[in-house]
Amino acid sequence: MSDTILEVTDLKTQFYTERGVVRAVDGVSFDVKQGEIVGLVGESGAGKSVTTSSVLRLIEEPGEVVGGEVDYMGRTIVGFEDTGEELVPRDEMLTEAQMRDQIRGNEIAIIFQDPMESLNPVYTVGGQVKEFIELNRDLSGEEAKEEAIEMLRRVGIPEAAERYGDYPHEFSGGMRQRVLIAMALGCRPNLIIADEPTTALDVTVEGQILELVNDLQAEFGTSFIWVTHDMGVVAEICDRVNVMYLGQIVEQGPVDEIFHDTQHPYTEALLNSIPRPDRTVDDLEPIEGTMPSARSPPSGCRFHPRCPDAREPCREIEPAFEQVAETADGAAHRASCLKHEEVGYWEAEPLEVEVEK
Ligand SMILES: Nc1ncnc2c1ncn2[C@@H]1O[C@H](COP(=O)(O)OP(=O)(O)OP(=O)(O)O)[C@@H](O)[C@H]1O
Ligand SMILES: [Mg+2]
Repeated sequence: MSDTILEVTDLKTQFYTERGVVRAVDGVSFDVKQGEIVGLVGESGAGKSVTTSSVLRLIEEPGEVVGGEVDYMGRTIVGFEDTGEELVPRDEMLTEAQMRDQIRGNEIAIIFQDPMESLNPVYTVGGQVKEFIELNRDLSGEEAKEEAIEMLRRVGIPEAAERYGDYPHEFSGGMRQRVLIAMALGCRPNLIIADEPTTALDVTVEGQILELVNDLQAEFGTSFIWVTHDMGVVAEICDRVNVMYLGQIVEQGPVDEIFHDTQHPYTEALLNSIPRPDRTVDDLEPIEGTMPSARSPPSGCRFHPRCPDAREPCREIEPAFEQVAETADGAAHRASCLKHEEVGYWEAEPLEVEVEK
């Protein structure tokens, strides 16, 4: 269980827009171990999708991965070297052909947030699942078709064999989303990156999918990066979680630790904004304000303008992302909050913050 398969270090991805540079991912580090389900959670615009696309090198113009490392089982997906003047991609970086033929689909599959982008409207749903399986596994013809139907059935498409020949527009949005999940599962990849795949689904179907994910993890040792804005989903399936805010990970650790020994006020706010069995609905507190733009992030701690615990130093000093608490199994619990640093946080006056409502 403790073998790291994916290691992301100080990843930086930017978009060059007419209105300035968007630092969508700004120094993100996390890892995934074999058979582990790792959550990536945060509000809309935090940089979750850009992070997952960067990991598979799917960022397109006007975007670019500008720094950091992505290592998958000893192979360099992203890597730079410093020539003294600039950062240039390292020689051992996988080529585009290697990414396509050896990594995407068969080793790491991604389930995109928007199903219509991944399904071709002019081919049947079943045919597309079958073709994807043929491309990425040692199955063909009838065998691949049977596997496709089996996967469609397992993600809860009713009468999967009959609906195999339907076109994407004949499926509901939730069913299309499930088709993407079936495609990814059918390839038996080692790692599945799932970008909010259950957000559009009703809770019953979501429950079935989450159960399926747990089954796959147990049956095949598949690892997952599960992107969501829902801490409830994190609690249900994830082993560890990364909490993202404005292009950075602000807290990271085993799910139990994050829920019971929360170290970052943003994580606290996220947890307070979801229903929990130990609280009543009246206790729910939406997070105040909105996330600022990634074009001009706030100085100091990026969360300070919305933080109920902010003090003077938070406006100036950028907190380090450091180990903040011991965990039972020795896994790191990290957070970036000045509370954990010797910078006069505790002696300082609370910061009066004006939150835009
Ligand atoms: N093609 C693009 N051009 C310019 N900016 C972009 C582009 N794609 C993403 N961004 C910006 O990058 C930031 C992170 O976006 P991202 O899609 O990763 O957010 P997210 O966390 O996935 O949000 P959501 O929960 O809404 O899916 C946002 O500020 C977004 O506006
Ligand atoms: Mg997204």
